[in-house]
Amino acid sequence: MDLNKKTYLLITGASRGIGRTMAIECSKKIAPGSLVVLLARSESGLNKTKDQISSNNKSIIVRTIPIDLANAQKSELQKAILTSLEGYNAKDFERALIIHNAGSLGDSTKLAKELDDIDYWVDYYKLNVFSVTVLNAVFMKEFQDIEKVVVNITSLCGIQPFPSLSYYCSGKASREMYFKVLASEEPNVVVLNYSPGPVDTEMFHEIQTNSHDENLRSSFTEQLEKRTVLTTEQTTAKFLSVLEANKFKSGDHVDYFD
Ligand SMILES: NC(=O)c1ccc[n+]([C@@H]2O[C@H](COP(=O)([O-])OP(=O)(O)OC[C@H]3O[C@@H](n4cnc5c(N)ncnc54)[C@H](OP(=O)(O)O)[C@@H]3O)[C@@H](O)[C@H]2O)c1
Repeated sequence: MDLNKKTYLLITGASRGIGRTMAIECSKKIAPGSLVVLLARSESGLNKTKDQISSNNKSIIVRTIPIDLANAQKSELQKAILTSLEGYNAKDFERALIIHNAGSLGDSTKLAKELDDIDYWVDYYKLNVFSVTVLNAVFMKEFQDIEKVVVNITSLCGIQPFPSLSYYCSGKASREMYFKVLASEEPNVVVLNYSPGPVDTEMFHEIQTNSHDENLRSSFTEQLEKRTVLTTEQTTAKFLSVLEANKFKSGDHVDYFD
């Protein structure tokens, strides 16, 4: 896949961690005149990402949209995309690329048998599944007439159970299956479920510190001590090489270690 095209690129969770590095590194590959749209709650985090993109590449426009994806209705997601396109038409771009990266771990201090709070489940799924699918539907409609690439940032946890990670594992599995169904329905859209491996971000430290499971905590601590945990740059480089090689079947789960 030639990434050097005039691209509308939207990344959620671009205020830190993997999303920030993906935004910065993807912006180096896309063509002049591209528009990069960064979503997350933290305005200061988004601005920092924007500054880093702009200092590398002045021919790309970057727009930030602070938004809480856990509470966004369809109308707000529509507004976010329309606002991001101000002064443009979807057809101005050769390709639209969306990276659904934002996510949360959920409470990992409890076991599956203890998770009896419906409101917590609903809130968790609002951020990690429902807003993802609705934002994707809004994106698919807005860019219906141009080439589209849809990326879901998934996890090994979406295909393998880990003790203490019920929210996370079930949310990732559900989210990934939505994108597999999308791929089965849309032969002209490239869909990638990319699993970034263990990456040194806030989320990684959250598991290492809070997980109810002692083995999981110690395995994460060991990865930090032995420095086998990946950097956001390493996983982003792999992600870009996977996209560029384009050897996966649309909808596939591709892991950093594949
Ligand atoms: N780190 C790993 O080892 C690892 C492994 C496999 C998969 N992943 C996946 O990679 C993705 C990025 O994770 P990360 O490790 O970079 O985590 P992170 O450092 O915790 O970053 C999470 C991102 O999601 C955004 N986000 C969280 N809640 C949000 C909300 N309510 N509304 C809007 N944005 C929200 C955060 O921005 P704000 O706080 O500013 O809103 C932040 O930009 C996630 O989908 C994660 O599941 C990570």
